Amino acid sequence: MTRFADFHQRSLSDRDGFWAEQAELIDWHQPFEQVCDYDNPPFAKWFVGGQTNLCHNAVDRHLAARADQNALIWVSSETGQEQTYSFRQLHAEVQRMAACLQELGVKEGDRVLVYMPMIPEAAFAMLACTRIGAIHSVVFGGFASGSLASRIDDATPAVVVSADAGSRSGKVVAYKPLLDEALRLSVHKPRKVLMVDRGLAPFQRVAHRDVDYAPLREKHLKAVVPCVWLDATHPSYTLYTSGTTGKPKGVQRDTGGYAVALAASMKHIFQGQAGETYFSASDIGWVVGHSYIIYGPLIAGMATLMYEGLPIRPDAGVWWSLVEKYKVSLMFTAPTAVRVLKKHDDAFLTKYDLSSLRTLFLAGEPLDEPTAQWIAQGLGKPVIDNYWQTETGWPILTIANGVEKAPTKFGSPGFAMYGYDVKVLDDATGQELTEPNQKGVLVIEGPLPPGCMQTVWRDDQRFIDTYWKTIPGRMVYSTFDWGIRDADGYYFILGRTDDVINVAGHRLGTREIEESISSHPSVAEVAVVGVADQLKGQVAMAFVVVKDVNAIPDDAARLKLEGDIMKTVDSQLGAVARPSRVRFVTVLPKTRSGKLLRRAIQAVCEQRDPGDLTTIEDPSALQQIRDLL
Ligand code: PRX
Repeated sequence: MTRFADFHQRSLSDRDGFWAEQAELIDWHQPFEQVCDYDNPPFAKWFVGGQTNLCHNAVDRHLAARADQNALIWVSSETGQEQTYSFRQLHAEVQRMAACLQELGVKEGDRVLVYMPMIPEAAFAMLACTRIGAIHSVVFGGFASGSLASRIDDATPAVVVSADAGSRSGKVVAYKPLLDEALRLSVHKPRKVLMVDRGLAPFQRVAHRDVDYAPLREKHLKAVVPCVWLDATHPSYTLYTSGTTGKPKGVQRDTGGYAVALAASMKHIFQGQAGETYFSASDIGWVVGHSYIIYGPLIAGMATLMYEGLPIRPDAGVWWSLVEKYKVSLMFTAPTAVRVLKKHDDAFLTKYDLSSLRTLFLAGEPLDEPTAQWIAQGLGKPVIDNYWQTETGWPILTIANGVEKAPTKFGSPGFAMYGYDVKVLDDATGQELTEPNQKGVLVIEGPLPPGCMQTVWRDDQRFIDTYWKTIPGRMVYSTFDWGIRDADGYYFILGRTDDVINVAGHRLGTREIEESISSHPSVAEVAVVGVADQLKGQVAMAFVVVKDVNAIPDDAARLKLEGDIMKTVDSQLGAVARPSRVRFVTVLPKTRSGKLLRRAIQAVCEQRDPGDLTTIEDPSALQQIRDLL
């Protein structure tokens, strides 16, 4: 047995012993009595009886040894600002933010919704929440009012923290009007809105509700707000993600298990050392931002670089200039970003001194071989793919060079990480496929390891029904990804089994997009599918049946309506969810029982064989789509 195989084996056969050892990587206020309580599957409780605090582990515990070392490095290539915070300064800022939240009435267990661009105050807000036991719920800044309103209603936050605006490609993107509209749409009304004014977009303040951050912070400059010791199982945050239905799920994460899982991953997978710099080019609105911009690197005592901007502005060398300037040792991004860089001059990859950089980690979508090779060769650094989900919080599949150096294989994120009992199952029979190279659904045998979701926020039944009851006769966690495992234990991911698509590393539900398009008054019916795209991995494509065909007599009318429908999606969900094209048909391909044949549409769009069509109601429906393309 290799060292890693042994390590992995032990994580499953001596689960409690294994995780008790990992738990030593963090500080505990009160030791736990039980490592894992799995008496009520699929609900796993980790480190029961223990008390700790995420913010303490990310910030306070480093004060003794590294108070003056960089903790947060913020760079905005949009506004040209750069700001660094030592652990001491971060500690002060987080306490100021925590005092502001407390003054606005936030208490332990309350939710705080964070709708912010990539600015330091967003990090302060998240850490301030976990400091005082409030549950943060970050909503990606690219989402618009409809998405935001549904999340406000589900999370029912006491306070929303937001900002006047973000900036993208040099253009100011105002947040406040979207937030105001969301708060008009939502049933739940938070007590207060805490506004960071960057001076980018003037905004209106709603009396008795909106509070400016700067003067309130000023009032709390000397704030001392101790960490609240929380049960390991206390929810630290919820993060909404898309699934099969239109209603986003609030993925709920704990405190102790998450801290341990991240600390362990920083050691075994990422190999980050305290004092070094980690640069994760993601967004705090996504899980990568939670785990590997904010908590993971800070827990490990590393400086984390938070970046607002594009990888190609002012030019395609901007990331590498930051690697040189801040001596970044580990980098994390999504393959899409690398594909964007690949369209620019290769010379940018060698223009800067990258001697500090050890490894580039990529995740979030399939990593194609040309992209992987281009970046690995161009940088002359190892590139490590890793596969996971919002639900798991840290990698399920990758290689763990901190345990044992292992080769990577193109096209594969790697093998199952410690703690994960991954299997390939036949989706129809539930049979395990043990032979190499058989295609099935990737599942994880319970209990999910520390750091993974505890439940769906306020909906235990949905957690069970959505994730644990999809395979006949087996109570296992479904990843909703197709995959195979080769003879060496390396997995290959072959796409989602549900209606989730992955656009430029952003996870989107086609049902949400369909619901938004359906709200347009001219639309009778719609199908949205994900179609393979060279740059973005996938793009959303919409096929619409209009209520009145006479309303779109010519190309000009069709183009106008296409634009209108896109605007509807932009204003409700945000531009991230906008379909690349809206096409008009007179009928959608359905089965005789009325089920939309999304897979067949997708296959036709990708010029693949649509497979068995014996149940199709009207074969001309697919032909129409073929003709359009
Ligand atoms: O389909 C898989 C794909 O992204 C999904 C999870 O997306 P999200 O919840 O946004 O979490 C991203 C965390 C990195 C998965 O179900 N996916 C993620 N990583 C990979 C991937 N597909 C192929 N290769 C990957 N490395």
